[in-house]
Amino acid sequence: MTEQRPDDSTPDARRTALITGGAQGLGEAIGRALHADGCNVVLADLQYDRAAQVARELDPTASNAWAVALDVRSRQDLEQTVKRIIERHGRLDILVNNAGVTPIRTFNAITAEEWDDVLAINLRSAFFACQLAAPHMQAQRWGRIINITSLAGQLGSRLAGAHYSVSKAGLISLTKVLAKELAPHGVTVNAIAPAVVRAPVMAQMPQEALQALIQSVPVGRMGEAEEVGALAAFLASAQASYITGATLDINGGQYMR
Ligand SMILES: NC(=O)c1ccc[n+]([C@@H]2O[C@H](COP(=O)([O-])OP(=O)(O)OC[C@H]3O[C@@H](n4cnc5c(N)ncnc54)[C@H](O)[C@@H]3O)[C@@H](O)[C@H]2O)c1
Repeated sequence: MTEQRPDDSTPDARRTALITGGAQGLGEAIGRALHADGCNVVLADLQYDRAAQVARELDPTASNAWAVALDVRSRQDLEQTVKRIIERHGRLDILVNNAGVTPIRTFNAITAEEWDDVLAINLRSAFFACQLAAPHMQAQRWGRIINITSLAGQLGSRLAGAHYSVSKAGLISLTKVLAKELAPHGVTVNAIAPAVVRAPVMAQMPQEALQALIQSVPVGRMGEAEEVGALAAFLASAQASYITGATLDINGGQYMR
């Protein structure tokens, strides 16, 4: 019997990566790590100026790092972005669904509007982006999709609202469903579940609760965004072709399974 094997070789062309929420924090670190690995990186964010500044630092000529103003709630914005990437680079190899918001809210304080908004930003955006990016990856017979979920999606958050945890649990499920569908096409789909990693979003957290959380981390410190960047770069590499449908924990030992 002939062994069925996806094409796990690195594509001949320079790989191209789209990172949503790439202006700061984890998305910025993932963009930097992928660029250091030789990828073209497209940093897509609501905060265009900040994303453009990071892109300029990576490549002042804007040929292999550039920014896009986009709202991940808009399918049209995502569609335009994918179109521009294909026009410029001829391919889309890596999609990192990273953009997210983390409202701190007690259960009864969550309005219907805020529930829908958080689900649209954190979860529906990935559904849209995967629908738009996957056909290109399938045609190339090579692709990597990485969804940034959270420990909150595995255990339920003690700080962030129920809408946040539910959106992140949904991303884990989306990862598994899509991994099964795309596995025969040389496309892997994985999730990264960070917890307590240094990023600008941490400034919004109640600082006392945050300190208590850090003290409960077995490794005894916060994670660094660069550590998440390195993990994403590995998942995006040719070496990771046998990892799919997985949720990789990067949480300092807060959840061991
Ligand atoms: N930092 C952590 O400890 C941690 C833990 C678990 C999960 N995460 C997840 O990691 C991802 C990145 O978080 P971070 O900590 O870097 O936070 P962050 O707030 O620093 O970065 C989030 C980025 O997403 C962008 N963004 C938000 N809404 C957007 C929209 N509608 N359209 C486009 N861009 C939008 C923001 O402008 C920002 O640049 C998020 O999905 C978050 O839930 C982070």
